[in-house]
Amino acid sequence: MSGKTSDTARPDTTRLQRTAKAYWETGALFAAIDLEAFTLIDRGHDTVAKLGDAAGIGALNAERLLDALAGMELVHRSPDGIYTNAADVDRFLVKDRRGYAGEWMTFMREKWGDWNRMAEIMREADPGDRLGMYEDLTEEGARKYHAATYSIGMGAARKFHREVDLSNRRKIMDLGGGSGAYCINAASKYPDIAAIVLDLPPVVPVARDYVAENGMSDRVTAKACDFTADPLPGGCDVAIQASNLPIYDRPVMRALVKKIFDALEPGGEYHLIGEMVNNDRMGPIAPALWGLYEAIPRSVGHAHSIEECEGYLADAGFERISVAEFIPGTLTRVTGYKPG
Ligand SMILES: C[S@@+](CC[C@H](N)C(=O)[O-])C[C@H]1O[C@@H](n2cnc3c(N)ncnc32)[C@H](O)[C@@H]1O
Repeated sequence: MSGKTSDTARPDTTRLQRTAKAYWETGALFAAIDLEAFTLIDRGHDTVAKLGDAAGIGALNAERLLDALAGMELVHRSPDGIYTNAADVDRFLVKDRRGYAGEWMTFMREKWGDWNRMAEIMREADPGDRLGMYEDLTEEGARKYHAATYSIGMGAARKFHREVDLSNRRKIMDLGGGSGAYCINAASKYPDIAAIVLDLPPVVPVARDYVAENGMSDRVTAKACDFTADPLPGGCDVAIQASNLPIYDRPVMRALVKKIFDALEPGGEYHLIGEMVNNDRMGPIAPALWGLYEAIPRSVGHAHSIEECEGYLADAGFERISVAEFIPGTLTRVTGYKPG
């Protein structure tokens, strides 16, 4: 049982203490990212003294930081004091690597203070019907935000297109498509497919820039659309909705999924990729925390379970509904087909 070292042992404080100070680990990780410590280690500044010099923090602070990072298993120390990055750090936190995702890892850091006053926030007011964190979005904010989502979304989109075959499809609508990652990857994989990124007005120019940067502007367009309020385009045989599920409550999702069903061409398919908790609502923790986060921007959102999502699709009329783990512990994909 949790909090005990075995079923018969008395509970101890190990787990509680680790969780209570989890933000210390966040602080250590953010310091390493800000100092580009992982990049410096990769470039040979791989001892306490060398990292202290290269990062401009001195040997004492370098030792403190490296001890913390080693304790978190983000770096490995050899017996003679040479540090190397762990495999995930090497892939995602060394600058100039294709997978670099430092922006994504830190993009919620300005909410740190709000998490510290979560109880107060939850007592303050009833949830509104706002779009949550997107309500006051500016183009500048959208640019910063989608530098983060692009850094992680391109990899997720490539994975999606490895797992889902759209070779017989003609046109995708991507609801809340953000940087356009899913559409860009579709267009580069399928020479005849067209796609439309639907997102809030400040995001549209940002999406267009990413699409242009990837040379896909001839087949991927972007259009302003609040998918909770505006009509959806016709003529699409694929709908993708990725990573915006917990912003919304059950009635909004139920109505949205029906609207998507109605807009899709007969025989079309819908992929809801979202932060879903298990049906017993006993985790995983990441989707549950996305749901809790929604108290901060005061949206109506919360975590949805997998079976709730299957229900939205079934109630709308989708058939052959299936569930696939997408990003373990974080994102689940629920897919359904509109009858032909
Ligand atoms: C976390 S981002 C995900 C972007 C993209 N789907 C991806 O996975 O890379 C969530 C996106 O949903 C968009 N979004 C949220 N609510 C929306 C709404 N009501 N209408 C249109 N877009 C919305 C946001 O503006 C944002 O671009």
